[in-house]
Formats: sequence, structure tokens, C-alpha cells
Amino acid sequence: MKKITIAIDGFSSTGKSTIAKQLAKELGYIYVDSGAMYRAVTYFAMQRGYIGAHGLDAASLIGALDQISLHFEFDPELRVAAMFLNGENVEVPIRTLGVSQQVSPVAALAEVREKLVAMQQQMGAQKGVVMDGRDIGTVVFPDAELKLYLTASADTRAHRRYKELIDKGEQVTYEEVLKNVQERDYIDSHRETSPLTKAAGAIEIDNSDMGLKEQLERILSHAKALIAS
Ligand code: DC
Repeated sequence: MKKITIAIDGFSSTGKSTIAKQLAKELGYIYVDSGAMYRAVTYFAMQRGYIGAHGLDAASLIGALDQISLHFEFDPELRVAAMFLNGENVEVPIRTLGVSQQVSPVAALAEVREKLVAMQQQMGAQKGVVMDGRDIGTVVFPDAELKLYLTASADTRAHRRYKELIDKGEQVTYEEVLKNVQERDYIDSHRETSPLTKAAGAIEIDNSDMGLKEQLERILSHAKALIAS
């Protein structure tokens, strides 16, 4: 059967990864969480001391990019692919608020994006992939057959992210999470290299008041029509 590429973009906590994982499962496609890759590079920079009170030491991180090796490995227990950085499973540390607070300046570096975009294009070269991020429909796969742009209010998204972090046992306040969501929205959509924008031809879905089932049904019907065409 014909395989397509599905590109999903949108601000943080718009439910992209939940939708993308379900879609991939329904279609038997690979799911790639491109945000995990930017998070892993950020975690590397933090471990190396390139991010501190002084901010981000971009030159040192850029100089060390060839020492970063990333891959996804399927975790049979969690039934999802886990992010590995230089052979270490970093799924847990890359999801902390600490990494979320540092990731946007790292993702704004053109050299970082160049390296990760090339890897993402390689992962999707055979099609049959669902990838989510900020520039998937605009830069990584501008020819994707199906492009989605998910939105929701900042308040709705901060509540979702707050609940996720509390459920994981992180000690955070709602105000801290909302501030992080708003700051990342601003940097991710105003940076010079590949800012988040709705790709040409993307279907926009505001899911502030829409359940997962309804979104999935809508998107799956689009996907199946494209696969059958
Ligand atoms: O999707 P996420 O919240 O895990 O992504 C983390 C950060 O990585 C996000 O604030 C912006 C950046 N990112 C990006 O610039 N381009 C992508 N394709 C994916 C994520």
C-alpha cells in the first residue's frame, strides 16, 4: 500500500505527540518526536556546563556538536521509542521543566537545526512516518502529503503540561509552567531560523475544546483518503 508522510507542527503542549503516536499506531507507521532531539542536545549542553547562570555558551556547544550521537530505541515496556544520547537513555531527564526552560535558545541555533534536520530527513526517507515538531511541514518535509497545525490557548496548554509534570512527581507551580509555555511560544515563533509557522496547505486544528477521539477520527479520515488516492 502507498505510504505517506505526516507532518505535525504546533506550539508546546498542543497534544502533538499524543496524536502523532496514535496515528502512527493506527497506520503502522514510525513515530519520530523531533522535540526529543532538541531536548537531548540541550541536556548534553547542560551536562557539559555550556548552559549556566551566564546563559548559553553557543560557541562551545556548536564546537561540540560532532560529539553528540542520537538515536531512538524502542522500549518494549513503555511501548514507545526512547531517546538515547551517546548510548544513554535520556527519556526521563529531557522531559523535566529544567530542560524545557533551556531548550528554546538551543533550538534557535542554525548549526543545531542543520544537524537535527538532516537526521530527521533521513529517518523519514522511506515515508510511512509521523513526525511532530515546529518546522516539520515547513522545513523538514515540505512535500509531506498530510500537514497538520495544532493550536490551543496558552492557558489550556499550561494546565495540560502542569498536570503531566505533577503526575511525574516534579515540584512545579502552575505559574512557572505557564511562564515557560509563553516564553517558549515567543522564542519558537520569533527565532530567525525556521520559526514556527503554519505550513502552506496545513490543516489547522484548535483543540482547546476538542477531545482526542474527535481529533483522531478527523485526521485519520484525511490520512486514509490520501493513502487510498
Ligand atoms: O515539542 P517539544 O516541546 O518537546 O519541543 C521542545 C523544544 O524544541 C521546543 O520548545 C522548540 C524546539 N523544537 C524545534 O525548534 N523544532 C522542532 N522540530 C521540535 C522542537
